[in-house]
Amino acid sequence: DAVERGHFRHYMQKEIFEQAHALRETLAGRVYNGRVLEGIFGASEARLFAEIYAVQIIACGTSYHAGLIASHWIETLAKLPCSVEVASEFRYRQPLANPNALVVAISQSGETADTLAALQEAKRLGFGPSLAICNVPESSLVRTADMCFMTRAGIEIGVASTKAFTTQLLALLLLTVVLGKHNGTISESDMEGDIVHSLEQLPHAVDMLLRKVQQPIKNLAERFADKYHALFLGRGIHYPVAKEGALKLKEISYIHAEAYPAGELKHGPLALVDANMPVIAVAPNDALQEKLKSNLEEVHARGGQLFIFANHRAIMQASDYITVVELGEIDELISPILYTIPLQLLAYHVALIKGTDVDQPRNLAKSVTVE
Ligand code: G6P
Repeated sequence: DAVERGHFRHYMQKEIFEQAHALRETLAGRVYNGRVLEGIFGASEARLFAEIYAVQIIACGTSYHAGLIASHWIETLAKLPCSVEVASEFRYRQPLANPNALVVAISQSGETADTLAALQEAKRLGFGPSLAICNVPESSLVRTADMCFMTRAGIEIGVASTKAFTTQLLALLLLTVVLGKHNGTISESDMEGDIVHSLEQLPHAVDMLLRKVQQPIKNLAERFADKYHALFLGRGIHYPVAKEGALKLKEISYIHAEAYPAGELKHGPLALVDANMPVIAVAPNDALQEKLKSNLEEVHARGGQLFIFANHRAIMQASDYITVVELGEIDELISPILYTIPLQLLAYHVALIKGTDVDQPRNLAKSVTVE
């Protein structure tokens, strides 16, 4: 046990720091010379993807959040309509089947009962071909789907998923490229090369980021440990990143955390904002930064404590009530993957201070194999 953890105190901590390696492994042999190689989703990829005009993603927990992020990539880059649903809802909703929709089931374990049942239901209803994005070869999900893509995160032991999540995102960005090529929206010359380049830089960027934010996050965690609630805000593709940050914090520190798309603040959560409610903002310099800034100013005006995760040009200045964690230059294509990292670390360090069972949080299981 202690040997496998090496010098790390917990598996989750080890897995956070293994992410660069896991990403490198997952990318290996899948890209070459600025191109995504053909057939990385299986031998029948070209034939099955040729008839795809939509995407339906099903997953649970953290894997569901990966799906939510991917839907932004699939719609904006591959220009295919993409729906994402938690598997436990999808399987009982009697959704309208689209025979031209690729069903993408995302699961670290490949044994989550709801995800497996949702995939079987999609097949029964007459959806199009299916793809499993999974970390465990020979798992039930891999055996059930028509195609599979293995993330190579290595065994993940911590109940709160970290390295499996970031490798799922890498897989989903590769999927976006392949779908976009089939749909004629990602021409070989530009977008594909840019995405491949970004993915090749990603492992190094993750390592640099971990090094940069480790100490600031440790300091920050001290200010969370006595809190009962936390609100995570994001917009656009970074809203699911906020959701994942909130999930990590609640899973392992038992602090009630929820995520809101920042534009919805005034429709409810603003009523909860006071000095005891830390508000964490995922705030990159993207097209929505001015919108987010005005949302955050509303929090500030109501005496809320703001914790802003930002690129090198933060959208608000640090002050008594505003703490800024600068992540440095962030490549926009892989921004959701990078912004996830400090939020994982934050949850970890808060849990450490609170003394919870980080790797085995109460009432939770690594793999939910029963309904
Ligand atoms: C459980 C785990 C989560 C995981 C979810 C889905 O809730 O605690 O970390 O995200 O199941 O698991 P899967 O193996 O399907 O990705």
